[in-house]
Amino acid sequence: MKTSFDSDRFNYREWKEEDFETYKHWMKDEQIRNRMGLPNKICNYIIRKMHKCIGKTKQTAYHFVVVRKRDNILIGFCDISKHAYFDVAEVGLLIGEKEDWQKGYGTEIMKFLLNFGFNVMKTNVVEIYTTKKNQAAINLFKKLGFSHSCILKGYCKIENGFEDIIHMYISVAEWNSKKISQ
Ligand SMILES: CC(C)(COP(=O)(O)OP(=O)(O)OC[C@H]1O[C@@H](n2cnc3c(N)ncnc32)[C@H](O)[C@@H]1OP(=O)(O)O)[C@@H](O)C(=O)NCCC(=O)NCCS
Repeated sequence: MKTSFDSDRFNYREWKEEDFETYKHWMKDEQIRNRMGLPNKICNYIIRKMHKCIGKTKQTAYHFVVVRKRDNILIGFCDISKHAYFDVAEVGLLIGEKEDWQKGYGTEIMKFLLNFGFNVMKTNVVEIYTTKKNQAAINLFKKLGFSHSCILKGYCKIENGFEDIIHMYISVAEWNSKKISQ
């Protein structure tokens, strides 16, 4: 099974054990946690869950390390997993260093995930959940043509209350009609 792919600036490959410390370091970064709106407990759960995925790529679940080709530096992580019985795949992405934000990296990685989900995994819909306060992510998904289906009120327990989660999605027909993919 093929586990390494390319877009213009990046190579997407399977996780290795030695990548894990970088992931943990970024997921524990306060600014990233704030941006993602994730409380510590959920971050720790996601970190443990991701660790179990190392070396376990399946045709229904890919977890990629994103490596910048020009200097071979690991700049982020992304993943796409197909739902067990719906024709839907959920995606996630993280660019670790703030100096790498707002350079179009998120757009390129999301385009890769969308093309991968629709053309390789043959899913009909790609979805994402993020906290309502993650405006950078929401804007990025909107720019790529995602619609928001609903706000899941109070879904995420944080230190001093509850956070709303936003569910966003795009179908293959919408993606192809947008022509952003080319
Ligand atoms: C969210 C994230 C992936 C954005 O990646 P990025 O490389 O900065 O995004 P891009 O440079 O491709 O920007 C694409 C669009 O996103 C939006 N965006 C990016 N940063 C933004 C910010 N700080 N404020 C508002 N909108 C922003 C804009 O609409 C931008 O389009 P524009 O440049 O035409 O205005 C990145 O900040 C990140 O990894 N954050 C931490 C993890 C996370 O939040 N993951 C997503 C939730 S699962």
